[in-house]
Amino acid sequence: VFVQTGKDLILNLTEAEFAQNSTFWSWGFERNSLVTCVPPSPPTVVNTYTGRIEVLEKTYNVKLKNLQKSHSGIYTAKAAAPIERILTEYNVTVQDPVSSADLTINRTFNTSSRIFTVTCRAGNSSISSTLRCENKTCGEIRGVTASGSSLHIYQLKESIICNHSNQVSFNNSVEEIEDYCPQDVGKTS
Ligand SMILES: *[C@@H]1O[C@H](CO)[C@@H](O)[C@H](O)[C@H]1NC(C)=O
Ligand SMILES: *[C@@H]1O[C@H](CO)[C@@H](O)[C@H](O)[C@H]1NC(C)=O
Ligand SMILES: *[C@@H]1O[C@H](CO)[C@@H](O)[C@H](O)[C@H]1NC(C)=O
Ligand SMILES: *[C@@H]1O[C@H](CO)[C@@H](O)[C@H](O)[C@H]1NC(C)=O
Ligand SMILES: *[C@@H]1O[C@H](CO)[C@@H](O)[C@H](O)[C@H]1NC(C)=O
Ligand SMILES: *[C@@H]1O[C@H](CO)[C@@H](O)[C@H](O)[C@H]1NC(C)=O
Ligand SMILES: *[C@@H]1O[C@H](CO)[C@@H](O)[C@H](O)[C@H]1NC(C)=O
Ligand SMILES: *[C@@H]1O[C@H](CO)[C@@H](O)[C@H](O)[C@H]1NC(C)=O
Ligand SMILES: *[C@@H]1O[C@H](CO)[C@@H](O)[C@H](O)[C@H]1NC(C)=O
Repeated sequence: VFVQTGKDLILNLTEAEFAQNSTFWSWGFERNSLVTCVPPSPPTVVNTYTGRIEVLEKTYNVKLKNLQKSHSGIYTAKAAAPIERILTEYNVTVQDPVSSADLTINRTFNTSSRIFTVTCRAGNSSISSTLRCENKTCGEIRGVTASGSSLHIYQLKESIICNHSNQVSFNNSVEEIEDYCPQDVGKTS
């Protein structure tokens, strides 16, 4: 499960009935207990996590609030007694939204060809790719930045698009390439 930094996430206890039938069950993160329950008493949030976690009524689903990147990891609900059993398990990854995509086009024209050199920078962990388009026919480039986000530069009709994305967000930048008429031939901008 991928979540954006600062957002909340609800983890569902898929085997609530089995949990109710056990004498002890818990929600844990990595090696720490977040919520413990000794039925029929209601579940309680472990002290250090109060405010960050909320147990939803009846379902025993938990709401993780204001998630940060350090909260990424494996969340597990398990019954400990009388039978030990994993009830639900989630692999949570918290990601920042991507930075903006910054597209620039360098137009180089002469009498026989029109070349657009396209560069897209994506924020801090910048990656820059160059795409050559001859007479408005461009290829396509895909790349991955140092922080694991993806950069995709492609042509759509009369536009060049650079899309910077990860699992939780995307940002794109679009530039028209149609405006470059024959009178531009010979100029460089
Ligand atoms: C839990 O269930 C709710 C409602 O069906 C759903 O919106 C949510 O995405 C589920 N959580 C996860 C982590 O799959
Ligand atoms: C919970 O216990 C009841 C009564 O003993 C039983 O009928 C039911 O099948 C149990 N459910 C699960 C999921 O173990
Ligand atoms: C959890 O998900 C992350 C991101 O997809 C992955 O890198 C990691 O290996 C996963 N962990 C487990 C234990 O599957
Ligand atoms: C991309 O980021 C810029 C600068 O932050 C913003 O103005 C623009 O609306 C964003 N575009 C999308 C599609 O999110
Ligand atoms: C544009 O491309 C031309 C030809 O490759 C190069 O000489 C020029 O310096 C480039 N301009 C910019 C602003 O990158
Ligand atoms: C126009 O530019 C292309 C690509 O840079 C080059 O191959 C060609 O020789 C140039 N033609 C003229 C007439 O300068
Ligand atoms: C680009 O257009 C010019 C002028 O119409 C033509 O001479 C040239 O062959 C074209 N180049 C390509 C690669 O299509
Ligand atoms: C940007 O890069 C600098 C130096 O590499 C780093 O210190 C900073 O934390 C980065 N900022 C973001 C938002 O990634
Ligand atoms: C950008 O990439 C994201 C994630 O792959 C996708 O959901 C979105 O539709 C793309 N947007 C454009 C304009 O290509």
